[in-house]
Amino acid sequence: MKEKINQILVEAKEKLSTIDSLKLLNDFRVEFLGKSGKVTGLLKGMKDVAPELRPQVGQAVNGLRVEIEALVGEVEANLKAQETALRFKNEAIDISLPGKAPELGTLHPITLVKNLLIDAFSSLGFQIYEGPEIETDKNNFQMLNIPEDHPARDMQDTFYITESILLRTHTSPGQVHVMTSTQPPIKVMCPGRVYRSDDDATHSPIFHQIEGLVVDKNISLCDLKGSLEEILKHVFGPQIKTRLRPSYFPFTEPSVEIDVSCFECGGKGCKLCKGTGWIEVLGAGMVNKNVLQNCGIDPEVYTGYAFGIGLERIAMLKYHIPDIRMFFDNDLRFVKQFK
Ligand code: PHE
Repeated sequence: MKEKINQILVEAKEKLSTIDSLKLLNDFRVEFLGKSGKVTGLLKGMKDVAPELRPQVGQAVNGLRVEIEALVGEVEANLKAQETALRFKNEAIDISLPGKAPELGTLHPITLVKNLLIDAFSSLGFQIYEGPEIETDKNNFQMLNIPEDHPARDMQDTFYITESILLRTHTSPGQVHVMTSTQPPIKVMCPGRVYRSDDDATHSPIFHQIEGLVVDKNISLCDLKGSLEEILKHVFGPQIKTRLRPSYFPFTEPSVEIDVSCFECGGKGCKLCKGTGWIEVLGAGMVNKNVLQNCGIDPEVYTGYAFGIGLERIAMLKYHIPDIRMFFDNDLRFVKQFK
């Protein structure tokens, strides 16, 4: 029996030394330690051993099992370590390689200017109203004190869809929508796309405006000047000054153009301001009584101011963009400059 035990140990050691995978190791385990394995087989042979020798032999067989189990454990640990090392090697990542940066999109400069203005107006309490881009002649013109055949229509070359339906030429019909559906106090801005049959370096058939409208008791031109000065400082810098020049719009009376002192030269005169020290940025005025009346608001009780800002114009000034068509070319090299 002793000999048998020794023989199995020698055989086991020999076999183990050739095992080079966990699968083979498992086969080995079955062969030696399994239910019908070699070591278990020894125990079955116990019945042939003399009874007085049985405890001794039993101990020896157990010792064999423990020894083989220990050896298996060792080989298993080695194989696992090898396997891990191999995986590390095969799946190694060269962290010194440059990464593939996901390309981040950028906001279009018109969107940047729009967001800047919306933030500024919101902080003054303006709410946003967005109206339709396809409008009636009535909302786009007549309600705004521009009757049919009025020469003021020539100020805006219009895309007509039918005789009475058109692409809005400005965001001012937003004023009509708001005033016909709410009573004062009103404080809204209407950002949006507008259309005119114009096409050159500073005019595009499609462009963007933000309309502003404030109607309440005791609103005066001072409110207009104060609020817009605040906004324009936010856009062009705290050092700028503003001035109002008389102008004409059928829907405001009096009407003004608002200029800012040139933010490039500080007012001394340069190329940007064409030597004048001032840059025209928007049109505005006190809401014409006729417009209030058309919309069902009593002009004896309420007054208001309105303004219209061209976003392309602001963006061209702020970012030194020489041609309005660049906004609509969809050239990524252009857009990417506004990170
Ligand atoms: N709607 C005018 C335009 O597009 C701008 C404007 C709006 C002027 C509101 C005064 C008041 O030219």
